Amino acid sequence: MRKWWKEGVVYQIYPRSFMDSNGDGIGDIRGILAKLDYIQLLGADIIWLNPVYKSPNYDNGYDISDYYTIMEEFGTMADMEELIYEMHSREMKLIMDLVVNHTSDEHPWFIKSRASKKNDYRDFYCWRPAKNNREPNNWLSWFGGSVWDYDDKTGEYYLHLFGNKQPDLNWENSRVREEIYKMMRWWLDKGIDGFRMDTINMLSKTPGLPDAPDDGKDGYVFAGRHFLNGPCIHEYLQEMYNKVLGGYDIMTVGECPKTSTDEALKYIAEDRNELNMIFPLDLMEIDYGNGEKWNPVAFRPADFKDIINKWQLSMQNKGWNSISLMSHDQPRAVSRFGSDSAYREESAKMLATLELTLQGTPYIYQGEEIGMTNVAFNSIDDYREIETLNYFNDSLKHHRDREKTMKTIHRQSRDNARTPMQWDSSANAGFSRVTPWIKVNQNHKEINVRQALDDKHSIFHYYKKLIQLRNENIALIYGEYHPVPVADDFIFSYLRSFNQERFLVILNLGVVAAGFTLPDNIKYRRQKLLLCNYQVAESDNIREFSLRPFEARLIGIS
Ligand code: GLC
Ligand code: CA
Repeated sequence: MRKWWKEGVVYQIYPRSFMDSNGDGIGDIRGILAKLDYIQLLGADIIWLNPVYKSPNYDNGYDISDYYTIMEEFGTMADMEELIYEMHSREMKLIMDLVVNHTSDEHPWFIKSRASKKNDYRDFYCWRPAKNNREPNNWLSWFGGSVWDYDDKTGEYYLHLFGNKQPDLNWENSRVREEIYKMMRWWLDKGIDGFRMDTINMLSKTPGLPDAPDDGKDGYVFAGRHFLNGPCIHEYLQEMYNKVLGGYDIMTVGECPKTSTDEALKYIAEDRNELNMIFPLDLMEIDYGNGEKWNPVAFRPADFKDIINKWQLSMQNKGWNSISLMSHDQPRAVSRFGSDSAYREESAKMLATLELTLQGTPYIYQGEEIGMTNVAFNSIDDYREIETLNYFNDSLKHHRDREKTMKTIHRQSRDNARTPMQWDSSANAGFSRVTPWIKVNQNHKEINVRQALDDKHSIFHYYKKLIQLRNENIALIYGEYHPVPVADDFIFSYLRSFNQERFLVILNLGVVAAGFTLPDNIKYRRQKLLLCNYQVAESDNIREFSLRPFEARLIGIS
């Protein structure tokens, strides 16, 4: 079925780092308002806004202390309403982050909950007594250490899958669920067009919160089996659909790490009435050594293709994909999957070609459209985000090599995505009049929006062209996906077809030139090169040719 959220292109805004309008060094809603023309020029028509709710900012807004108030640093509710209004008058849609696995420990619910064992809100969160004089179980938090924090006041522990200032809500409690649904309706009635649902596959935990198998390991262990895609998750989401989502023409996308394709279909199969699409995140873990983020290794291009093919083929005709190569939680896509030195432009354009021609809704993260890269601060003092700081402290504690630790941080830190948007080459990259809350990447002198707009061959203009092609050709949106078999590991090719319309995509994922041969069974009479990231195509024979480093071609065939 045709849907606006399948046809649109999403632009993700991390408000803190996007544009500062009032000179306090922090991005804000009026900054976004000032840049809507820019986003419209690019051609994106849906904005996903990271959390803008009131928060003590322990995890940059993912620790909400009031769902009904805008974070002071970001502006006011009137600014937010203006943003909704301005976007709608441009026929753009706005989706907001929904963070309901946990709140801030400064949320009034938690303040009441921790006050005494008997109070009305105690059961809004997950409290447990000590077990054998220690934590109630051995689960490891996503941000390191135990998921349990001891609270003196009542002598019990509370659960937090993330940081200790992010206590998990107790979704088994129907009063919690009703409060969340009420809040969601309140925002939808204000006119927003949907939600990106944070860590949504973690709401339901194994009853009794049992220990995870420790394989002889000391300390805390990853316990995904007890909180990922748990026993009641689909029941909760169907209830949410019946009580809230189903009543609106909106878009929903759920963040679902470590989820199989079969499990994914339970969330998104159209007849199940849960979500429209999920972020599966396999691709975002492709370079984790032993499944560990802080132990990165080189990834194999064959794995990269396998992951994409697996999701494309298993969702086809059953559910809808989201296509994204990065987010505010990830290193920069060009640094990770392309090259951020000699072939930055070519590889960023190759990745753009992939993003905009697969089946699914594409998500462009702010700065991706100009090929912004990772940053490498020398001092840990310049890093801001909690997961990185926790990792650094843990390394200190375990006497790991400091230089190696910093190298790993340079590669993996979430702050890579959070340095200020690079608008121009001036001192603070045109992001702010004053020193920003996090340092700008020094390469803003060369890599910035002003430069990108002026150069008609820039990554920005290439994205714009791709979005136009996608808008003009329904096959690029709804067309079937067929992988094209190729011999070389670094060459990735597929067809998108819809009735008579066919598009052939051929990408070189690597820095070395590589050959491509079109299989004989793919027949065509006419071909038209629609887009290539090199200015001149070296050959127009597409049966057999060599692709230059990171070369990408989009070819219409008939
Ligand atoms: C999600 C968010 C991330 C946040 C975490 C806890 O993974 O994308 O930024 O830290 O959830 O809310
Ligand atoms: Ca500001």
